Amino acid sequence: MSNFDGALASIAQVHGWLSRDQAERLWARAGDLRPQATIVEIGSFQGRSTIVLALGSPATTTVVAIDPHAGNDRGPQEISGFAAEAASDHETFLANLAAAGVAEKVTHLRAWSAEVADTFTQDIDLLYVDGAHRFAPARDDIRCWGAKVKPGGVLLIHDAYSSIGVTAAIASTLWWSRQWNYEGRSRSLAQYRRGNFSLFQTAGSALRQKWQLGYFLRNLVYKVLLSAHLGTVARWLGSNGEWPY
Ligand SMILES: C[S@@+](CC[C@H](N)C(=O)[O-])C[C@H]1O[C@@H](n2cnc3c(N)ncnc32)[C@H](O)[C@@H]1O
Repeated sequence: MSNFDGALASIAQVHGWLSRDQAERLWARAGDLRPQATIVEIGSFQGRSTIVLALGSPATTTVVAIDPHAGNDRGPQEISGFAAEAASDHETFLANLAAAGVAEKVTHLRAWSAEVADTFTQDIDLLYVDGAHRFAPARDDIRCWGAKVKPGGVLLIHDAYSSIGVTAAIASTLWWSRQWNYEGRSRSLAQYRRGNFSLFQTAGSALRQKWQLGYFLRNLVYKVLLSAHLGTVARWLGSNGEWPY
């Protein structure tokens, strides 16, 4: 598949949290990869982002999708206790991959990312983090899995500016890291590149990330208002009425 509109059509009926502009960023970074590259996705849910990564990357790329489909951190406001829904997510995930024609290309590890971190020894070209949204596991994903990304490789993080846990995890691991440079975002999906960066480049990266805090605070305000059933007020302040991601 070499056509982004075709990929969008493939995910049109796939439930999940990935906007068009975010899908376009995943598609573009997957398309940059060389043949035989390795993509790792943490947090696949029903396969929306997995399908874009699989369709957008060269045919010989390996896509490893890690998701226990166990009911915790399932989605916004679904932190724990969704085991039954998660079991059906697993069936839906497999069916969605098959319908999109990417079942063969994707290796699904039905596990928590921390369970398979030690045994996964491949170098990663593109890492997409959209699993746990609480501070400690999000931080550990960035640290443990980010360390497996090759120099020049890319790290994409969803909810980078719409989840307190993820934003705090990023602040503690990436803001002042000399190994990661912030390259921009699509809504709350942030992009980083691995390398060895000078103090000057690191300061620039930190400043550009801190500059996004206004956007983060705006999203928090929308979330508070939407949770309090004050959607009208949120809209009045500029929200489109959707949960921000
Ligand atoms: C927000 S959803 C992912 C959405 C998906 N990327 C999409 O495009 O729709 C979060 C998913 O992460 C999974 N998850 C939560 N904690 C995880 C962890 N520690 N390791 C791997 N997956 C995890 C959940 O089971 C859930 O399916």
